[in-house]
Amino acid sequence: MSAERSKGGTDDLAGARFGPRNARAGSEGLENNAANEFDRAKEAAQFILSQSKLRPKIALVLGSGLGAFADEFAGAVKLPYHTIPYFPRSTAIGHAGNLVIGKVGDTPVAAMQGRVHLYEGYSVYEVTFPIRVFARMGVEAVILTNAAGGILRELTQGRLVLISDHINLQGANPLIGPNDERCGLRFPDMTTAYDKKFRAIAAAEAVRAGTTMPEGVYAALAGPSYETPAEIRYLRTIGADLVGMSTVPEVIAARHSGIRVLGISCVTNAAAGVIDRPLVHTKVLEVAERVKGQFIALLKAVIPRIAAELK
Ligand code: HPA
Repeated sequence: MSAERSKGGTDDLAGARFGPRNARAGSEGLENNAANEFDRAKEAAQFILSQSKLRPKIALVLGSGLGAFADEFAGAVKLPYHTIPYFPRSTAIGHAGNLVIGKVGDTPVAAMQGRVHLYEGYSVYEVTFPIRVFARMGVEAVILTNAAGGILRELTQGRLVLISDHINLQGANPLIGPNDERCGLRFPDMTTAYDKKFRAIAAAEAVRAGTTMPEGVYAALAGPSYETPAEIRYLRTIGADLVGMSTVPEVIAARHSGIRVLGISCVTNAAAGVIDRPLVHTKVLEVAERVKGQFIALLKAVIPRIAAELK
């Protein structure tokens, strides 16, 4: 791996990370940086595709505790993030940091075992770089999973919830900076960011498995501190049902790239102040681990139906 390729890893977190659009607005380097994001994504995509004969149209981002699903893929190749040109490396506990290409049943998929977050110190462009790479690989649908706090009282610990919409409170947007028309539109529509057909498929598969999957609005905050009870009351007032620290930048980048999105949250805890109990990250991982079997069964049922929908 060349020195250039190692850029974007945790080594250079404190220094000048590559930031496709990190340059100040109005500076000369800005357009080149935006163009570079496309070229970097293309290079990473070419590298990934050179490692497998499969050509996945579906990608998964497996959040906290869910990464193990990718260990079950048939005929899989596992690419540690640090081997992929420009890929960011995950530092979060419960996020393994591999891209796995393999088959779920007959469907080829690419899955990220863990993601990177803003709270790790990555820029929003680095957080969404893998989505840019998926777009260059020819991926047409992403299934984004995460752990979330339940704001709505019915969204209790262990429930899987279909994300129907989001509220971006992360103070960041991956589309800020000059727009590269090769990636997508300057002002992408977000009216149905979470694909209605995919939501219907997932809800139907939940019913078929003998449960139900409610829908909820996901509010994304930067973290890493959990919310205060006052913040949760505020979030409830503005229409949020779930709260978490990921996913939203990825959804924005995916929609910008024309990739269809399915988002599923695993409620690992009641949000701060909903019940009188402090929040502990290890507990969050424990619950994600407990629900893993049900979550994986659902994904296995949903993936072939999404694949059929893309044909
Ligand atoms: N808040 C924010 N992010 C989370 C939570 C929460 O309560 N649970 C899991 N991820």
